[in-house]
Amino acid sequence: MKGARSIALISLLAQANACIREKNLLERGRTLSRRQAPHAPFPPVLSETESILSNSFDSTSLSEWSHYYTHGLHIAGTNKSQAQWTADRWAENGFTASLAEYIVYLNYPVSNSLTLTYGNGSVFHPKLKEDVLAEDSVTGSPDSAPVFHGYSATGNASAEYVYVGRGQQVDFDRLVALGVPLEGKIALARYGGPFRGLKVKNAQDYGMIGAVIFTDTADDGNVTEANGYAAYPEGPARNPTSAQRGSVQFLSTYPGDPTTPGYPSKEDSPRTDKSPVTPRIPSFPLSWQDAKPLLNALDGHGTNGSEVNRTNWVGALNSTYSTGPAPGAVLSMSNVMRDAITPIWDAIAWINGTNSDETIVIGNHRDAWIVGGAADPNSGSAIMVELSKAFGKLLQTGWKPRRNIVLASWDAEEYGLLGSTEWVEEYIPWLSATTVSYLNIDVGCSGPSPGLSATPELHKVAIETMKKVIWPKNGALNLTMYDVWFEETEGEVGVLGSGSDYTAFLHKGISSLDVGSDQGAGDPIYHYHSNYDTWHWMTTYGDPGFPVHKAVGQYLSLLAYHLADDEVVPFDLPNYTVELKKYFDAVEKTISSTSGSVDLTELTHAIDEFERRAIEIKALEQKALEGEDADLLLVVNHKYRDFQRGFTSQGGFPEREFYQHVAFAPGLDTGYAPVTFPGITEAVEIYKDFDMAQEWVTKTAQGIIRAANIIKP
Ligand SMILES: *[C@@H]1O[C@H](CO)[C@@H](O)[C@H](O)[C@H]1NC(C)=O
Ligand SMILES: *[C@@H]1O[C@H](CO)[C@@H](O)[C@H](O)[C@H]1NC(C)=O
Ligand SMILES: *[C@@H]1O[C@H](CO)[C@@H](O)[C@H](O)[C@H]1NC(C)=O
Ligand SMILES: *[C@@H]1O[C@H](CO)[C@@H](O)[C@H](O)[C@H]1NC(C)=O
Ligand SMILES: *[C@@H]1O[C@H](CO)[C@@H](O)[C@H](O)[C@H]1NC(C)=O
Ligand SMILES: *[C@@H]1O[C@H](CO)[C@@H](O)[C@H](O)[C@H]1NC(C)=O
Ligand SMILES: *[C@@H]1O[C@H](CO)[C@@H](O)[C@H](O)[C@H]1NC(C)=O
Ligand SMILES: *[C@@H]1O[C@H](CO)[C@@H](O)[C@H](O)[C@H]1NC(C)=O
Ligand SMILES: *[C@@H]1O[C@H](CO)[C@@H](O)[C@H](O)[C@H]1NC(C)=O
Ligand SMILES: *[C@@H]1O[C@H](CO)[C@@H](O)[C@H](O)[C@H]1NC(C)=O
Ligand SMILES: [Zn+2]
Repeated sequence: MKGARSIALISLLAQANACIREKNLLERGRTLSRRQAPHAPFPPVLSETESILSNSFDSTSLSEWSHYYTHGLHIAGTNKSQAQWTADRWAENGFTASLAEYIVYLNYPVSNSLTLTYGNGSVFHPKLKEDVLAEDSVTGSPDSAPVFHGYSATGNASAEYVYVGRGQQVDFDRLVALGVPLEGKIALARYGGPFRGLKVKNAQDYGMIGAVIFTDTADDGNVTEANGYAAYPEGPARNPTSAQRGSVQFLSTYPGDPTTPGYPSKEDSPRTDKSPVTPRIPSFPLSWQDAKPLLNALDGHGTNGSEVNRTNWVGALNSTYSTGPAPGAVLSMSNVMRDAITPIWDAIAWINGTNSDETIVIGNHRDAWIVGGAADPNSGSAIMVELSKAFGKLLQTGWKPRRNIVLASWDAEEYGLLGSTEWVEEYIPWLSATTVSYLNIDVGCSGPSPGLSATPELHKVAIETMKKVIWPKNGALNLTMYDVWFEETEGEVGVLGSGSDYTAFLHKGISSLDVGSDQGAGDPIYHYHSNYDTWHWMTTYGDPGFPVHKAVGQYLSLLAYHLADDEVVPFDLPNYTVELKKYFDAVEKTISSTSGSVDLTELTHAIDEFERRAIEIKALEQKALEGEDADLLLVVNHKYRDFQRGFTSQGGFPEREFYQHVAFAPGLDTGYAPVTFPGITEAVEIYKDFDMAQEWVTKTAQGIIRAANIIKP
């Protein structure tokens, strides 16, 4: 899924800082400049091994792999041959490969319908269908999926409806404060912000009986038809019929098979009630074209959008975004899904390292909501095939990695990270004992704007590696990936929330990173989870010629190589302290914005202790390297491998035991976006319970101390 993270970011920027952002855009070619040391050589100087990896990447092969993945239905649990094909490509390149099968609960769409009946009795029928485009043959595939929500409930609902903005708890609280009736009504929600499943959960929790969620063109920044851009396929703007499929699992409670929390899904696994993490009320997505008449029917009823006065409430569809309900304007929805307990297939491949107790895992999901999936996730899948080829070239030279390298192609990520979560649940003893890092690539490319999130010990190596990759955009300017990334992010590596397959690793205390390249402001609109995420879109607008795929693949290979083969695992623990201090400042600010008080002394002491130990281990690393002391190197490497497990020693957060990393987690009411020091922050912001916050100061501090103790010589 993942794509939504960047889209949410774009819309946030487009809305909050439209002017600043647009200005950057207009001036992009001119303001982009080399950020590296002024005389850093160009092209970057690579070692012989790095050159072999980097030069192995070929746009023509990438395009071939992409073409394969994007011309066959591969919704979760439907395409075993694609899993086998992936394993076969990896095996051809020298990896040992096999399939891992899990038997999971999924549901598939059967039919849905929606009508709007106006007060005067006339009726509007939304299309609930994305147009078939002559230019893009895949959109007319007989296997084309309808617009639906994975894990949505089967059911009918017929009632007046209310516009609920982005559907966060604060939006609903505002509606309650305004006296808008919610009980027994249907929610009309806008995409963006929280994970879609949480919008449905909130609607359900406020007594609503159904939900429809639409894409608003406000999230497309300036690249809209209203601004004169032609829509796909003629131009880069959003096709007006495009709709965002996706899961409505309650992702922030737990990912994985909803019926087997905490253990792998096998044929004979006991299965629990899924209702704590899947909705009871029906839902499905709408295109903006289908949604506009629904919004307009509410115009003038209830409280208008500007009076509601909530961030991202008013969109760009020429409506007052009034709350409604409009007397007599009734939606009738029907949603029929078919339940299945069915196999899914992960492809897993590996090369044994010389150190059998150290492992790097690199993963990408393979399943898509539609036949295409050219960006999400198969840009990543194409890169993974090419990456195996690059490592195959090294193997041909007689090279053997120091650490085990595992490749994973996950199935059923889209429904709720099932393939990765079940696999982690099955192999956790071995993963916990040996894994040094998990590197994730989901949407490898939906545009030319590189993005990076990672646990803090990886920041330094992740940033330095970007300086080794030539970025295709503005080629004449001789820019590296680092230059372009810096321009967009001002040098901030993202914090991992959720929305892709690193989640299960991270919350078992495994160092994790997520990389890809997304649509930036002004770039062609990426039709996230729509039937238009196709080969044709990718080759016409997303990444014609595949140069961005190539650069991202080079990056991932170089990073994986260093993690797998450097004498010392390239972690920087002092940088973990830098980040912990940022999280501390943030939580202090959160608390001071309330009337309550929380004593943070224990947390301060824990961070100080971590800081001392981090400096110590850096010194120990130096000593081991200078003394060429193999035993000491082993000690340092194992401490690097293990220290992060300490952060997960406190048994998980309230109501969501799955999420265990005391430093960060997806927000309970955001799903994608991260919250730092979640135990404390959410006690204050969500539970409004200061005793609970105080308890979580202790637990957070204990987690940090535990990590510090693992580092201690
Ligand atoms: C699986 O995907 C491949 C390639 O994308 C395609 O050729 C094949 O027809 C698909 N199989 C099924 C059962 O849809
Ligand atoms: C009923 O109201 C809708 C929305 O205002 C309008 O488009 C439609 O023409 C009306 N139908 C009749 C029969 O008046
Ligand atoms: C947005 O796009 C329109 C149409 O191309 C253009 O006229 C306008 O200047 C753009 N606005 C900004 C701020 O770039
Ligand atoms: C919204 O309502 C307020 C208060 O009734 C009014 O002043 C304002 O003009 C309305 N705005 C729109 C766009 O209808
Ligand atoms: C809108 O909300 C902001 C902050 O919540 C507040 O400062 C402002 O006065 C409100 N505006 C209106 C018109 O109510
Ligand atoms: C917006 O809607 C109003 C009211 O329906 C209409 O008069 C106006 O022409 C519309 N504006 C545009 C740009 O479509
Ligand atoms: C649900 O709605 C559909 C479509 O309107 C209809 O065919 C079906 O009979 C309804 N089912 C129930 C149980 O009311
Ligand atoms: C890799 O190592 C495992 C044990 O760590 C062993 O069982 C397996 O046979 C090895 N595979 C290869 C291809 O050497
Ligand atoms: C880009 O690098 C090449 C050498 O690889 C050099 O000849 C050229 O002048 C550089 N261009 C710019 C704009 O710096
Ligand atoms: C690492 O920490 C140093 C200070 O200790 C800081 O200057 C640097 O920016 C940090 N780098 C990263 C990538 O966090
Ligand atoms: Zn994805």
